[in-house]
Amino acid sequence: MSEEKKKVKLRSAEWFGTQDKNGFMYRSWMKNQGIPDHEFQGKPIIGICNTWSELTPCNAHFRKLAEHVKKGIIEAGGWPVEFPVFSNGESNLRPTAMLTRNLASMDVEESIRGNPMDAVVLLVGCDKTTPALLMGAASCDVPAIVVTGGPMLNGKLNGKSIGSGTAVWQLHEQVKAGEISMHDFLAAEAGHSRSAGTCNTMGTASTMACMAESLGTSLPHNAAIPAVDARRYVLAHMSGMRIVEMVWEDLRLSKILTREAFENAIRVNAAIGGSTNAVIHLKAIAGRIGVDLELEDWTRVGRGTPTVVDLLPSGRFLMEEFYYAGGLPAVLRRLGEGGLLPHKDALTVNGKTLWENTHDAPIYDDEVIRPLDKPLIADGGICILRGNLAPRGAVLKPSAASPHLMQHRGRAIVFEDFDHYKTRILDPDLDVDENCVLVMKNCGPKGYPGMAEVGNMGLPPKLLAKGIKDMVRISDARMSGTAYGTVVLHVAPEAMAGGPLGIVRDGDIVSLDCAGGRLDLEITDEEMAQRQAARAEVKVDLPKSGYAQLYVERVLQADEGCDFDFLVGSRGSAVPKHSH
Ligand code: FES
Ligand code: MG
Repeated sequence: MSEEKKKVKLRSAEWFGTQDKNGFMYRSWMKNQGIPDHEFQGKPIIGICNTWSELTPCNAHFRKLAEHVKKGIIEAGGWPVEFPVFSNGESNLRPTAMLTRNLASMDVEESIRGNPMDAVVLLVGCDKTTPALLMGAASCDVPAIVVTGGPMLNGKLNGKSIGSGTAVWQLHEQVKAGEISMHDFLAAEAGHSRSAGTCNTMGTASTMACMAESLGTSLPHNAAIPAVDARRYVLAHMSGMRIVEMVWEDLRLSKILTREAFENAIRVNAAIGGSTNAVIHLKAIAGRIGVDLELEDWTRVGRGTPTVVDLLPSGRFLMEEFYYAGGLPAVLRRLGEGGLLPHKDALTVNGKTLWENTHDAPIYDDEVIRPLDKPLIADGGICILRGNLAPRGAVLKPSAASPHLMQHRGRAIVFEDFDHYKTRILDPDLDVDENCVLVMKNCGPKGYPGMAEVGNMGLPPKLLAKGIKDMVRISDARMSGTAYGTVVLHVAPEAMAGGPLGIVRDGDIVSLDCAGGRLDLEITDEEMAQRQAARAEVKVDLPKSGYAQLYVERVLQADEGCDFDFLVGSRGSAVPKHSH
């Protein structure tokens, strides 16, 4: 054993390292799995935190992924222990997978802290599984490495590529406008998700995979290798080998997840045209490790960055092409060479800096990963808005918006909640034109509850029939990373928490100024105060028991990452008392 190894005191030895009643109990029950005695003699025990579930189709291939991680762990002299955690599937889980992101993070945190493990491999894929597992692991601050499940192959319809999620929004609008047949709409279903993996657009899953890689929490190329590509399994194997070394190096998450790492990730989010959901998830992860990220960091670090990755929903291609073009290392190289990677020396899980990993990364396709001087969007990033309608901020993704609407004044059409929207939008007598602003209330963290992805409200059918493709939409909801439009999201405070969004009325004039970072309701301060004072109790059925009640009572607003107030911060991995 090397000198370095001798210095590290394994956490798992607190369970398995003593020849007494406790050591007997901890070892004996484990031995019912056929584990020989020598496995307990000082090998690093590596948890494989698995979000496998057949109800999370994007993560349904994770048992195979875990097998490859195990091979790597064993090869490097560790001992793998796989364990399940709550699996947040975006496609099936109602009312929204966001409601249980924090629940999953608690599951992860307590599973790690209470169990004999020295480090953890986080198997993530579908949107919320990535932040949930990073949040939980960060609160324990153990060595951790992210292994993502990888994106699906390109979707196909009638010989052409279609992108996960984005195609659904597009085809649904087209079928409503009478542009395609119901037959084609239904035919798209089978070709849309034709392999294992996560959404193949630059939606939230791909975005969060890119965030994990740019934060330095995964090996290079983790974000983009397709789920069914053999190289995905090689990466899983290598990650298993590497996590064992990380134990001996005591390379904990707090050494990786620094403020510098988050600033790199914000810059990368702009370069890839990433999801607005990253604003919430990065804030929540940062909060767990003691990094105070502000909404304005997104303006300061992110804005002005060219979007160079030409992927749907902002651009043309899909994750398969992104990997073949060079993947995230190629983007990091582009940024670094252009002086746009703020912290090249940020440490990553392989023990090298981000720049050491990427400075000579090959770039195979300038169409997919464009040069900085031929960007998809010159000024990418997330636009942070403030004003009397969003005192604690709101967000808009310029690369998904229509340039002609990014400075706009319009008459508000107000929906009290999502149900009201769904019925009212269909009213043929609704007095609406393309210059109006659709405003929806009570879809925030407390109001929905769970802040569902309903912010990209579909347009009124009569305007779709006229060929209108976009309108300004404003709400306290989120939107899917696969969606698009001039959509103002995450208005904080939300209507349910007393935010001014709740006092907007039909006919009010709302003004949006992306360049100026403003979102305002054109009423006087007196009028605002009067309306707030006279504000009617909002009639939303708040949950009276169960997890949803805890959620509504303790969830923080969007600008604070929607974590629970009592979960913010790292609580470390001190070994708890014996259980018997
Ligand atoms: Fe799972 Fe998109 S629904 S990644
Ligand atoms: Mg999504």
